[in-house]
Amino acid sequence: MTPEARRPYIAGNWKMHKTAAEARSFVERLAGMVSADSVDVGLCVPFTALAASVEAARDTPISIAAQNMHQEPAGAYTGEVSAPMLVELGVRGVVLGHSERRRYNGETDRALQEKVPAALLNGLEPILCVGESEEEREAEETQRRLRHQVQEAIENVPDDQLPAVVIAYEPIWAIGSGRVATPGEAQEAIAFIRALVGDRSRAAAAAVRVLYGGSVSADNAVELLAQPDIDGALVGGASLDPENLAGIVTAAG
Ligand code: PGA
Repeated sequence: MTPEARRPYIAGNWKMHKTAAEARSFVERLAGMVSADSVDVGLCVPFTALAASVEAARDTPISIAAQNMHQEPAGAYTGEVSAPMLVELGVRGVVLGHSERRRYNGETDRALQEKVPAALLNGLEPILCVGESEEEREAEETQRRLRHQVQEAIENVPDDQLPAVVIAYEPIWAIGSGRVATPGEAQEAIAFIRALVGDRSRAAAAAVRVLYGGSVSADNAVELLAQPDIDGALVGGASLDPENLAGIVTAAG
């Protein structure tokens, strides 16, 4: 598959922002600004805003994703939410392994090894986040970290389902810092991630979409998205404003 055949994907990650009412009005405004002709547009919203967002996004090009889920379909896991619960709401995808969840909520590669196949089994598109810390980059351990994260997380995904996984390369030092990776740095890491998928299946490596995340804005998106292996962006801060997010979608089109 050529890069042209991989559909660009711009996903906003709201983190712990926006009430259900705020989400509804955001989706209505964004829907008036984007078309789905050539770019997939997604919003990863808090659990409490999922139902309102799905309803507002109906008959629009916008798909709604959650920001985490538990690997089990049900059970004694207080405070957790399962894939079937998300699917019932009309949610289409789920962010898994975001560095903030790894850091503050004890998310592990071992749990992700179960979460990624559980999402796929339920028809949810996993957006698997990987990325190195500043210390790891300085110690030239970026590839070692990425190899570990990617290999562990996709270990239980059958080869033919690998293209349905979306991977987001998010260097931790670039998240929320305004310190975006250079297009060259992002391209190099993302090409490496694609090659890791290629160790499992060459066809999957050609088809899998790998996004860049970390201080993406309407200003830097064009250059990042022009890189041959960068298939889109996972956008935090700049996704909280519909005009900004629409600008990034335009840059990807
Ligand atoms: P940022 O966040 O765009 O605010 O850096 C990206 C993310 O954490 O997904």
